[in-house]
Amino acid sequence: MAPRKLAAGNWKMNGTLASLAEIDRLLADHPASGCDVLICPPATLIQAMAAKGIATGGQDCHAKASGAHTGDIAAQQLKDVGASHVILGHSERRTDHGETDAQVAAKSVAAHEAGLVAVICVGETEAQRDAGETLDVIAAQLAGSVPDGATAANTVIAYEPVWAIGTGRTPTSDQIAEVHALMHERLSARFADGADMALLYGGSVKPGNAAEVFAIPHVNGALVGGASLKAADFGPIIAALSAA
Ligand code: 13P
Repeated sequence: MAPRKLAAGNWKMNGTLASLAEIDRLLADHPASGCDVLICPPATLIQAMAAKGIATGGQDCHAKASGAHTGDIAAQQLKDVGASHVILGHSERRTDHGETDAQVAAKSVAAHEAGLVAVICVGETEAQRDAGETLDVIAAQLAGSVPDGATAANTVIAYEPVWAIGTGRTPTSDQIAEVHALMHERLSARFADGADMALLYGGSVKPGNAAEVFAIPHVNGALVGGASLKAADFGPIIAALSAA
């Protein structure tokens, strides 16, 4: 079974109820035919977005199922309001909140136990790339962040080079291909159905470069930030993935 193609949007800390009009536009103007579509809005919008019939995800969850953790959200709570996925270990969480690989793995276990698909993010900094450490960094993050219970059904991996996020800079196709080949190889070696895990690329994916990105071997979709906020931008990215 080949990995399913997935166009995922990460709205980050953007959007209010008024932004849901973009989902109406997306569903009306760009019906997805050849790929899955997921939007991960701020937690405040999950319930209303899921009610529109589009796959919806959180952007983080706590590793515990409940308890005294002010400001945090449990995986089961995301599930309760209609989420099917949750992004975990995004570089902004790793940087802003000091999340470690072990914490990301623990959160992923919680997501799986709640019945959510974990979208686990990995990616090197510019300094690590310049030092020639990219493949070692990605291998270590995969080993540490992806829990033993991961399957192709409950886990998606997103390669997001930190220096490409929100910068308009993207790696070359060869650089993306090199990392995705490594991820495919490592996941295939570790998990029974690791070869079927969907591997996304993220970092300045736009309508203008999407087709090129989706032509790269072992790229099964994208995790899109800024360009997922507007149907006029995300729609063409979905179309490019459907056609890939
Ligand atoms: P941009 O598409 O805005 O670069 O963000 C990528 C990202 O971080 C998605 O999770």
